[in-house]
Amino acid sequence: MKNLLLIFSLAIILLSCKQQAQKSLELLDHIALAKSTLKVEVLAQDLDVPWDLAYADDGFLWVAEQGGTVSRIELSTGERKQVLKIEEVWRQRTSGLLGMAVHPNFKRNPYVFVNYTAKRDSLMVSRLVRYTFKNDSLYDAQLLLEIDGNTAHNGSRIAFSANGKLLWATGDAHHFENAQNDKSLNGKILRLNTDGSIPQDNPNPKSYVWAKGFRNIQGLAVSNKGLVYTSEHGDAIEDEVNLIDKAANYGWPFIEGKHDLANEKAFAIANNTTEPIRSWTPVIAPSGLTYYGGKVIPEWQNSLLLTTLKARSLRVLKLNDDGKSIESEEIFFANYYGRLRDVCVDNNGAVYISTSNKDWNPSPGFPLAADDKILRISLTQKVTQKVLRGVKAENALPKNGQQLYQVYCGSCHKEDGKGVSGVFPALAGSAKVNGTPNSLIQILLKGINQNPSQQMPAFNFLKDQEAAQILTYMRKSWGNNSAEIDANQIKLNR
Ligand code: HEC
Repeated sequence: MKNLLLIFSLAIILLSCKQQAQKSLELLDHIALAKSTLKVEVLAQDLDVPWDLAYADDGFLWVAEQGGTVSRIELSTGERKQVLKIEEVWRQRTSGLLGMAVHPNFKRNPYVFVNYTAKRDSLMVSRLVRYTFKNDSLYDAQLLLEIDGNTAHNGSRIAFSANGKLLWATGDAHHFENAQNDKSLNGKILRLNTDGSIPQDNPNPKSYVWAKGFRNIQGLAVSNKGLVYTSEHGDAIEDEVNLIDKAANYGWPFIEGKHDLANEKAFAIANNTTEPIRSWTPVIAPSGLTYYGGKVIPEWQNSLLLTTLKARSLRVLKLNDDGKSIESEEIFFANYYGRLRDVCVDNNGAVYISTSNKDWNPSPGFPLAADDKILRISLTQKVTQKVLRGVKAENALPKNGQQLYQVYCGSCHKEDGKGVSGVFPALAGSAKVNGTPNSLIQILLKGINQNPSQQMPAFNFLKDQEAAQILTYMRKSWGNNSAEIDANQIKLNR
């Protein structure tokens, strides 16, 4: 009897310890889907731009932070242990430690692959390096490949293809011509063996290039059917999600987004290019991408999960059955947790997202206390916190002049029209904004190209009505008080 009591009380103590460990994750919000209810918890905090998340078959969540550290996080407690600090990482703006992939069969092949920028003399380079995990640390750095780097447009994501090859998505390193140049490894999807050699079944058995014509890939995902998807930053317009085919050309810098302009169509016919399966104007700055194949959250099954920076959201892109097109898009957390950098899924169907509020371009009001964070989204029955809902993408498009201004102009001239001193002129009180309609319309349609380092982009892709709404909003806001501009005036100025 005594023994039984002892066992019983021990069991209770153990149970409550376990509960306590789980309780220690802070619960933030709930999400109501059509049928399921989800909870959002803080798995980790006080991070410095967790650029890449990877769930590995050791049961841990791996995280690469931009400054050069790699850590492993225990999923039930959130306990984080640093396993690597790469001293030679060179971080500025969007360079630093970026992509990371853990071998899919980690127990037998304890390899971790990372991509980071470093300096070789005065040159900036982007390195793909393989490490081996033992005794709780990463050792034995093997440089697999080194390509051109820059302070921006480094791409960086790494993933495993269905048949165990390494895919590395690179950026054009801010030299647009790289993307179409077969001799350059920038602006490409590269395909390697895990020892760094070139697979014999690459399009050219002497080249790493698998697909070309990219500007700056920020997300790379492989579906359970083995389909490969990327997310990519457009210039002022046309962010993209692409489905990657062997030896295909995606058109940058001659094509942005859909092949809809006359010169794009000509290039597309001459070069047999592939169109994105989704494109966004106004831009959202898409980032991490993952495939959700599990049944745990049925509403998200067979979707791409995409985090966005500028639009500060998680997007659920529902795929059709063959995975070759996107049926619908739903937006979660818009402007709520801030910029979101990466997303991944564990083998229990829980989703992890990382914030990026300590990067070079934080939004007003951010970082929040204890940023950056990794949040876990998982199924629950109980609802105790605020309930968030998704919004269909078509209902989130900007409608009035103020919303159009914010998505197209606000990133530079700021929501209050005050601009940034010495960089982006104030539109409040500006003589050009309040001057003759025709010269203002010309600025909007053609841009201003005088100062090569700070240019005002051309907005000739806007519809007449949208352009008129933006200009009217500017001429009536922030103390400005000039006459409205209508769609016909825009049309006459084209
Ligand atoms: C990527 C940053 C950027 C975005 C986005 C942008 N602008 Fe500008 N804009 C500039 C810069 C830089 C200048 C100054 C160019 C110069 O004078 O050389 C400028 C100048 C202007 C001016 C002239 C102001 C003055 O007093 O000199 C107007 C008007 C203007 N922008 C309107 C807009 C509108 C309307 C939008 C949105 C549809 C927009 N801009 C979006 C960067 C931007």
